[in-house]
Amino acid sequence: MQFERKDILDMESLSAEEITFILDTADQLKEISRRPVKKVPTLRGKTVVLFFYEPSTRTRSSFEIASKRLSADSISISSSSSSMVKGETLIDTARNLEAMNPDVIVIRHPSAGAPHMLARLLKTSVINAGDGMHAHPTQALLDLMTVREKKGYIKGLRIAIIGDISHSRVARSDSIGFTKMGADVVLAGPLTMIPKGIESLGVTVAGNSDEAVKDADVIMMLRIQKERQKSFLYPSDREYSKVFGLNAERLKKAKKDVLIMHPGPINRGVEISSEVADGPYSIILDQVTNGVSVRMALLFILSA
Ligand code: CP
Repeated sequence: MQFERKDILDMESLSAEEITFILDTADQLKEISRRPVKKVPTLRGKTVVLFFYEPSTRTRSSFEIASKRLSADSISISSSSSSMVKGETLIDTARNLEAMNPDVIVIRHPSAGAPHMLARLLKTSVINAGDGMHAHPTQALLDLMTVREKKGYIKGLRIAIIGDISHSRVARSDSIGFTKMGADVVLAGPLTMIPKGIESLGVTVAGNSDEAVKDADVIMMLRIQKERQKSFLYPSDREYSKVFGLNAERLKKAKKDVLIMHPGPINRGVEISSEVADGPYSIILDQVTNGVSVRMALLFILSA
């Protein structure tokens, strides 16, 4: 197919056909990362700017590795090391970066909609690496890739997403992505962390975590995003872990071949026990591996 889109901003705007095209491209590019020399000249002469206003380990490093594996030049800018600390606006910063002719700008920003604003203003391709509580499309794409790789298909799978749904851009993007690809998504978490009207995304909300886990093909556990909560939304980590955490006992309710996922970073002993996170059903590190392939695919599709 011809991919006409300039930017990757959210899962809403991608069609099932476009998602399949991205996943197929990522599957093909994955082989490069297994070679003794993990580099191809495909994007030689292209420039990728990584513009991160929030902390990141996985997303930032995988975009950087993806750029290098395709021979693109990448530069990394954080808010504290940019002239934004001197009062320059996001728009002025982005316009100045564009004046240096990059091919792709990857942005993570605490404000929902910041990547969309840049995409409207700039001619350069923009990839959203996470905007506030809104969207994290590249995470959803790597999650879809990982489930499709492990199960062989996505349609009809029961995907349980459990935790701090309200503050999670991953929950939103995964819900939209998995639903669009034909999976049944069920959400669970404390009532204080389930946004009203979330069913409009095509998901169902379970009464408790046992109900969500029951017969699940995939369980995605989420961290409590304390940095985004304005007040305490649950009594204690210990209580949260007991009621909503995934441990070996609760896991018995899922299907025998269940896959355990987590976008990271993990808070061990809170939303997931170490026994489960490091256990035989966990594909958490496969998600990280596939993050490189998905980001290689997006850089290739947008800039080649
Ligand atoms: N999953 C994810 O976005 O991780 P980072 O915050 O480390 O990039």
